[in-house]
Amino acid sequence: MTNELLMEARDVSVTFGGGVNTVKAAQNCSLTLRAGEPIGIVGESGSGKSTLARVLAGLQAPTGGEVLFRGKSVFKGSKSYLDGTRNQVQMVFQDPYGSLNPQLTGLSAVAEAVRIHKKLGKEESEANALELLQRMGIGKLDALKKPRQLSGGQRQRVSVARALSASPSVLLADEPTSAIDQSAQAQLLKLFLGLLNDGLSIVLISHDLGVIRYLTKRVYVMKDGVFVESGETEKVFNDPQEEYTKLLLASIPGELGKAARQKLAR
Ligand SMILES: Nc1ncnc2c1ncn2[C@@H]1O[C@H](COP(=O)(O)OP(=O)(O)OP(=O)(O)O)[C@@H](O)[C@H]1O
Ligand SMILES: [Mg+2]
Repeated sequence: MTNELLMEARDVSVTFGGGVNTVKAAQNCSLTLRAGEPIGIVGESGSGKSTLARVLAGLQAPTGGEVLFRGKSVFKGSKSYLDGTRNQVQMVFQDPYGSLNPQLTGLSAVAEAVRIHKKLGKEESEANALELLQRMGIGKLDALKKPRQLSGGQRQRVSVARALSASPSVLLADEPTSAIDQSAQAQLLKLFLGLLNDGLSIVLISHDLGVIRYLTKRVYVMKDGVFVESGETEKVFNDPQEEYTKLLLASIPGELGKAARQKLAR
């Protein structure tokens, strides 16, 4: 691990609408991401996680603050730098059904992305795509299926393969495990661990604290657009400082949330 500071958000704010319809989806959010680091963003539905993710991925300009990638401001300066950043920071969207073209097989979808990013010919792109898909546990038979013929977990893995086609340094995964069952979750998390071992940085967005604890080293807790607490994941889980974090932890079913529930009861 090089420990290079890859990405930084400085006081990022996003406001939607105006007047009485104003929504402050993100308010002065600051975060750092180092090379090879897995960080997490947790928070309840509507807290602003996806909005912030879109800003970090260079897909939406913030209304305040800035995002730096390798020390350079993403939204100011040349468009070529913004485009370069978009390749380097790839996002796996919350709804893979919506982000995959329903007409394209997994193989075509990934091959198309390979062709664009790597500027390869058709055959090479397909070979490259098949390799990426196989790495994600999608064999040739499933690679030839369209999104509606795939299971939720398979669709997610096709989306990850597509994101990886750009050879990014950062993978932003927005609720990658929310729509899939336990065994598909475990499979995806194992794949993410493999990607981390290969040096990829991962920003994992989830309301599933078990998943966050398993994969991330640092975590940011978001509530109503604000980071209310952040720190090393183990520390935040074992000794949460904010009432909101304590409540979030206590809401985890089973053993994982037990200690937090007992603490709250006291
Ligand atoms: N394009 C938009 N126009 C207006 N409001 C928006 C827009 N996108 C998001 N919002 C609002 O911003 C807030 C944060 O939404 P966001 O999707 O970022 O939440 P989230 O934390 O990802 O939630 P979830 O866990 O349900 O995915 C919500 O109140 C949402 O309604
Ligand atoms: Mg979301």
